[in-house]
Amino acid sequence: MTILDVGCGPGTISADLAALVPQGRVICFDASETALQAAREVFAERGLSNAEFVRGNVEEIPIPTGSIDLVHAHQVVIHLIDPLRSVKEMRRVLKTALAETMRATGSDPDMGARLKALAMRAGFEPDKVVCSVGSWCFTTEDDVRWWGESVADRMAEDSELRQRVAEVGVMPAEEMDAGVRAWRKWSTSKEAWFGVMNGEIICTK
Ligand SMILES: C[S@@+](CC[C@H](N)C(=O)[O-])C[C@H]1O[C@@H](n2cnc3c(N)ncnc32)[C@H](O)[C@@H]1O
Repeated sequence: MTILDVGCGPGTISADLAALVPQGRVICFDASETALQAAREVFAERGLSNAEFVRGNVEEIPIPTGSIDLVHAHQVVIHLIDPLRSVKEMRRVLKTALAETMRATGSDPDMGARLKALAMRAGFEPDKVVCSVGSWCFTTEDDVRWWGESVADRMAEDSELRQRVAEVGVMPAEEMDAGVRAWRKWSTSKEAWFGVMNGEIICTK
C-alpha cells in the first residue's frame, strides 16, 4: 500500500501510518523543508525506513495520476488557499477503486444487496422472495492458486474485461498490469486466503 500524507508537518502521524504498512510505504509531502526535516528525524528515531519525503504544493502534487492507495491530510485543508483545487489533486493521484471500475464496465458490485428490490420490481411479492447469504472462502493452497490465477487471467492483457476497461478509460493499463502481477504473487503466498459474501434469492410466483 502506498499512502500519501499531504501536509505531513513533523511526520508524527505519517510515522504511525508507516508502522501500519510495513510492506508498503508512506510519502511524506509538505511545502516546508523544515517540516520535512522534522519528519525525517521522527522516522529515524522510530527506526522506520518505508518512507519518501517530497517537497511541493498540494495544488500541484508531483506524483503520477492513479498511483496512490490512500491520501491522508490532517489539519491541512484549513490552511489551503485553493482547497477545491487541492482536493481535486488528491483525488487525481488516487488509484481507481475496484467498485468504480466494475461500475464503469457495466457490472454492479452491490447487486447482491439489491437482488430483493430487483425481484420486487420484476413483479415478485416481497413474501415470495427468500433472501440468504452464501459465502466463498478459499483457504487451501490449490483453491488460493486457482482463485488468484483466475482473477489475474480476467485482468490480463488479452482478456475481455481488459478491453472493456480500456474502452471506458477508467483504469490505466499500468494499473491493470500491476493488479495482474499482484494477484499472481498473492496466489502463491502461503499466507493468502480469500472470502466474499454473496447475496442470494429464491423467488416463487
Ligand atoms: C498544521 S500542520 C499539520 C501537520 C500534520 N498533518 C499534523 O496533523 O500533525 C499543516 C502542514 O501543512 C503544510 N502545508 C500548508 N499548505 C500546504 C500546501 N499548499 N502544500 C503542501 N503542504 C502545505 C504546512 O507546511 C504544515 O506542515
